[in-house]
Amino acid sequence: MLAIAVLAAGKGTRMKSALPKVLQPLAGATLVERVLSSARTLAPERRLLIVGHQADRVEQQLQHIPGLEFVLQQPQNGTGHAVQQLLPSLEGFQGELLVLNGDVPLLRSETIEALVHAHRSSGADVTLLTARLSDPTGYGRVFVNAAGEVDSIIEHRDCNAEQRSNSLTNAGIYCFNWAALADVLPKLSADNDQGELYLTDTVAMLNKAMHVEVADADEVNGINNRLQLAQCEGVLQQRLRDHWMAEGVTFTDPLSCTLSEHCSFGRDVVIEPQTHLRGNCTIGDNSRIGPGSLVENAALGSNVSVVHSVVREAKVGNDVAIGPFAHLRPAADVGDGCRIGNFVEVKKSQLGPGSKVNHLSYIGDASLGDNVNVGAGTITANYDGVNKHRTVIGSSSKTGANSVLVAPVNVGDNVTIGAGSTITKDVPDCALAIGRSKQLTKEGWNSRT
Ligand code: UD1
Ligand code: CA
Repeated sequence: MLAIAVLAAGKGTRMKSALPKVLQPLAGATLVERVLSSARTLAPERRLLIVGHQADRVEQQLQHIPGLEFVLQQPQNGTGHAVQQLLPSLEGFQGELLVLNGDVPLLRSETIEALVHAHRSSGADVTLLTARLSDPTGYGRVFVNAAGEVDSIIEHRDCNAEQRSNSLTNAGIYCFNWAALADVLPKLSADNDQGELYLTDTVAMLNKAMHVEVADADEVNGINNRLQLAQCEGVLQQRLRDHWMAEGVTFTDPLSCTLSEHCSFGRDVVIEPQTHLRGNCTIGDNSRIGPGSLVENAALGSNVSVVHSVVREAKVGNDVAIGPFAHLRPAADVGDGCRIGNFVEVKKSQLGPGSKVNHLSYIGDASLGDNVNVGAGTITANYDGVNKHRTVIGSSSKTGANSVLVAPVNVGDNVTIGAGSTITKDVPDCALAIGRSKQLTKEGWNSRT
């Protein structure tokens, strides 16, 4: 039987943020969500989250996770005090308790699995994860005896100069035999620099303590401040890019691009410099995104190019060219073979296959058929100051430059709209519509004296 407890009650003073530390985002997910998902493959019987600082806010954010038990720690008197709060909930529980720090978000599931496995095969009371760090500042130091067993953990601030030179650090990830831990938890004292109850002190109180050293020290990076947050973001981004490069995606300047974990790419996609993909994105084969583009929660087909553009909550078919300087907004649905050119904004509109909006347009709340040619500067005037209305343009129609389509309005198939028209009435199929005042020409006007 395995129970997992995540320590998430601390304030995160060093972040200097209104947000509780464990809710800080990293590559699109909060720290605590990352910690919880790193333990998912273990399929634990119980999952407990210790909350305290802004507990309501943390609970609310994590409501969607089924079976997660919230345990309140009030006040927050240290990591040992946090785990003491589990005594009532886990009374009589037989098995291991895996304790994870809520601010250690880069752990791989394989590492946690290896820790639990090592613990089970050695029969220790506790097995903790350690790392050799080139700069162990701030971390607890782990002291191991000749037999390889852990004698004690001493916090950085409680170490003397000699103890600080030990680079073996505590990752804040422990697999305990719960019954043994439950025995020693009540005996913790706050005899340390911070005057708190330290979970790390239980290690010296238990009979047999072992440790497993991680191969990749990046995994155990703890986040106490914004610098460490940025470093972890860098590590995660590197992992994501490396993964996708191995899957056949080209990054011409990898370090300048960021991805979310929920992106997926086809073959031979090229991501050009300064390009960022956030949320759920899918990009089809042979597409080229960037330079300088932001794609968020969007599905792009194959052979799409996006240059210096923003695409959000939108859907794009195959063989589409977007940009430079285009903006696809929520519910833009662009069909196969379309072309969205410079300074064009599309919102909540469907564009049928082969339609082109090449220059300086706003297409909002509109449905365009197939092969529509939207002339430069065409605007769908969708808002009357109170409500939004729809514009419909049938297949193979053309709007002249600088047309305004005042919605609600229906333009049929194969229609031509004269340049500079303001269209306020429906236009039937195959018609020419011109809505502008006639040109007045006064000959000789400038020769009058
Ligand atoms: C802790 C360890 C240290 C280890 C480091 C690894 C202790 C005493 N020290 O130090 O040995 O090297 O993690 O990252 O455990 N929390 C609570 N309630 C509290 C206090 C903290 O739930 O009363 C939570 C925090 O929200 C956080 C985690 O426990 O998620 C760790 O707390 P933090 O104060 O960051 O401990 P460190 O000083 O980093
Ligand atoms: Ca920490």
